[in-house]
Amino acid sequence: MEFKDEIARRRTFGIISHPDAGKTTLTEKLLLFGGAIQEAGAVKSNKIKKSATSDFMEIERQRGISVATSVLAFIYQNKKINILDTPGHKDFAEDTFRTLTAVDSVIVVIDVAKGVEEQTEKLVEVCRMRNIPMIVFINKLDREGKDAFDLLDEVEQKLGLQVTPLSFPIGMGYDFQGIYNVFEKNINLFSGQSKQSIEDTIAIDDLNSPELEKLIGETAAESLRDNLELVEGVYPAFDKEAYLAGEQQPVFFGSALNNFGVRELLDCFIQIAPPPRAKAAEERVVESDEKKFSGFVFKIHANMDPKHRDRLAFIKIVSGTFERNTPYLHVRHDKKLKFSSPNAFFAEKKEIVDISYPGDIVGLHDTGNFKIGDTLTEGEKLNYKGIPSFSPEHFRYINNADPMKAKQLNKGIDQLMDEGVAQLFTLELNGRKVIGTVGALQYEVIQYRLEHEYGAKCTYENFPVHKACWVEDTGENPEEFAEFKRIKQKFLARDKAGQLVFLADSSFSLQMTQQKYPSVKLHFTSEFASQ
Ligand code: G4P
Repeated sequence: MEFKDEIARRRTFGIISHPDAGKTTLTEKLLLFGGAIQEAGAVKSNKIKKSATSDFMEIERQRGISVATSVLAFIYQNKKINILDTPGHKDFAEDTFRTLTAVDSVIVVIDVAKGVEEQTEKLVEVCRMRNIPMIVFINKLDREGKDAFDLLDEVEQKLGLQVTPLSFPIGMGYDFQGIYNVFEKNINLFSGQSKQSIEDTIAIDDLNSPELEKLIGETAAESLRDNLELVEGVYPAFDKEAYLAGEQQPVFFGSALNNFGVRELLDCFIQIAPPPRAKAAEERVVESDEKKFSGFVFKIHANMDPKHRDRLAFIKIVSGTFERNTPYLHVRHDKKLKFSSPNAFFAEKKEIVDISYPGDIVGLHDTGNFKIGDTLTEGEKLNYKGIPSFSPEHFRYINNADPMKAKQLNKGIDQLMDEGVAQLFTLELNGRKVIGTVGALQYEVIQYRLEHEYGAKCTYENFPVHKACWVEDTGENPEEFAEFKRIKQKFLARDKAGQLVFLADSSFSLQMTQQKYPSVKLHFTSEFASQ
């Protein structure tokens, strides 16, 4: 197959949702369609159950599962589909944000009864900011839930999306009869019998045909016709260009658990979802069909076996082909590296691969060379944008609890931060180290891993910070900047990349600081230079 055809047949995407909306179940059904697994239940949920927040073994077990499900690839109708896993647990939201830098589109799963939930709002906002094409799947139609039109309204209002339904439910919960496929203009009736088989569609080309009454009864037929008339009147027709530009989001209804409405979703997805897209580097925009290889690290996973401290760095290929045993430039280190056993992912397995194409993810064994955001190329000095750090929500001092193991502790902290587990800030005033995380769970993960993987012990101490803001010296007023640094010294720190950060202790002090030093720009993400 030609290089261009290989690119055109790839679809790399992520499924995002609030926990429990049905992401794992949908993923599993998609794999079932791809023939990548034979039965339901084969994909383990990687979510951390609420009850497990302080259970270290559970965290470890989950780490094992999430390596296996980091990338799930399968072939469907000759398309190579790569699903990138995104953790649903809010404490790992930053992992999800980073994974979203490597997807070309997303599917948003919403629970029909719960509607738009908090985590969905946050994740969709990130996708909206990046104009990522999104398809919405409203799940659990076999249960009683909200009215379809109310839900579509809620999706528009709360998520700021422009929806257009491409399928529409016939009844719901106890009365759920099936789905009308607006995209293909046919009906799929719900038998509710088999949860695992893949059912056939009953085609009905003409909505006005009396066949409809025979199939779903008079009342349902009438209400479907009315609903579809309303859909046509209220929502814009599907516009592929608008979808690809992130300006319109098609909506599907179904029940992942019952494998219902999933085929409609998948068939439409492979037709409309974008193949690997161009990506902006600081230097220039790189097209996916450029011949020379380039890619970037969006995730690093530590080895499960503490005796082998190597890690798996996940690279998204942006352009060209990645080949085994070929030297590539590690741009940040300015050195060439060669990989003898790059892993590719297929269903839940990983295997050594000789050649990978744009859109694919390769897992590279790493002994500490990589950090998140690193770029690999055939020689060009490119730095891919779009992997910023966000202000953490929690901050604690980290103290060494075993003076004999200071070296191990520092190494452990260093490597865990490169993996993106948390962020490290070093105070300007006294050099003390502060760990910032998105959720409280990470502190336990860090403590546990420092002890088990690096033989170091730590304790924490509260450090009240409202928000970390990255400081930009605009050069407009050097005196004001010097004054800001002097007065606020106690609240200044460096992040791991050496950037200056202001740790505001309250929203009031943040506001006052902004007013008092207008020439000092405070940013809520680390990547302001490219905004
Ligand atoms: P997540 O990855 O988004 O967190 O959700 P997951 O797929 O694990 O689904 C959450 C729960 O919702 C699961 O039930 C799952 O079986 C159920 N579910 C998913 N899709 C549907 C659907 O279409 N209809 C109905 N009625 N339920 C659905 P659970 O009891 O929490 O887990 P399990 O014991 O079934 O694994």
